[in-house]
Amino acid sequence: MYINFWYPVCIASELTTTPIRVRILKHDFVAFRDHEGNAAVLSDTCIHRGGSLAGGKCKEDGTVQCPYHGWRFNNDGICTRIPSLGINAKIPPRARVDAYPVQEKYGVVFAFLGDLPEAERPPILPVDEDGDPNWRSTVVQFDVDYYYERSIENGLDPAHNEYVHPTHGYSGEREEEYKVNELEPHRINTWGTGFMHTFDAPPLKNWLMKRFRSAGGKMQAGSGTLGPNHMWTFIHFSKTKSMHQYMFEAPMEENKTRIFLVNFRNLGITKYEFLNKFIDKKINERNYVIAKQDIVVVNKLRPVLTPPSRTKELLMPHDKAVLEYRDHLNSWEARGWKIDMQEVNAARARGDAIHAIPSPARRKDKGWVLDPVPLIPPKEMIAQAAE
Ligand code: FES
Ligand SMILES: [Fe+2]
Repeated sequence: MYINFWYPVCIASELTTTPIRVRILKHDFVAFRDHEGNAAVLSDTCIHRGGSLAGGKCKEDGTVQCPYHGWRFNNDGICTRIPSLGINAKIPPRARVDAYPVQEKYGVVFAFLGDLPEAERPPILPVDEDGDPNWRSTVVQFDVDYYYERSIENGLDPAHNEYVHPTHGYSGEREEEYKVNELEPHRINTWGTGFMHTFDAPPLKNWLMKRFRSAGGKMQAGSGTLGPNHMWTFIHFSKTKSMHQYMFEAPMEENKTRIFLVNFRNLGITKYEFLNKFIDKKINERNYVIAKQDIVVVNKLRPVLTPPSRTKELLMPHDKAVLEYRDHLNSWEARGWKIDMQEVNAARARGDAIHAIPSPARRKDKGWVLDPVPLIPPKEMIAQAAE
């Protein structure tokens, strides 16, 4: 897991002035809307004596109040009130928790979990269809019991369709004609990889999907990444009918991931809103049927994490995008952004320490109560230490 990327926190329309506790990167966060409607994401652990801020309440002054002794924290994470000291008490500067930059996009609340200054931050995956009246979007979230990198790599794998998805593959029934075609690079960017490819697909059988593509034959699809946890999947049923899906993944634990799926479609849009909503619902159900086909297989992949050495798998040319994704992960590890899971897990096993994902304010201000999460040292530091 990596700091310094944008992680999905919750569905924007579901965030209110009732604080919620969210698990990301094996840490707890509190998310809430202040009384002006601004979304806020803070480290959940109260720096007084470890209360969970999400168990408290939002106050009219825009703060979240710890349920244990009532300390209040504003959406910059700064403590504005320590009730036990009396009404006009001075608040010590160390009384603050990490607060993370927040953006609301595509119906999702994102938090930047890291300490990079704004100019150096990777972006949120751009969505060209956002705001285009020819496209309609829906957003859903669901949890899976596997590591997020396994999930992303599954999305980057063009060879599983044929066997995992009877909805758009031949389940290996046409092995004589079957072969994965050339992967054409698509939407390659500083922070990720991507490809499109053409394949033979059976006629869509579902009553709704049949209306978008009734005959079998050639189809185009592809996928790609931005950062460790943002992924696009384009499905082109025909020249004019498409679905463009955007997945934003929040690793919770090594074996638990929350996935936010934003589905854009340029089909099944009518002038009747009740009908559009009905199709939204049916398409979301359909997407979940397909997601479940993946879940059954990916749930059982071993090891749980991808193996650190490439010699422990036998990869083929069509696994190219998976390798490119791993190259990006390695480059972020070399920059010192990878969480040292062994250290984190050792602290959890002892039960006597909790860390915070460092927020941008740590770059300028000192004196934080919680230690930052342990990270694998950047490559130069390892090289220097060896000299
Ligand atoms: S633990 Fe939060 S106010 Fe005491
Ligand atoms: Fe799949």
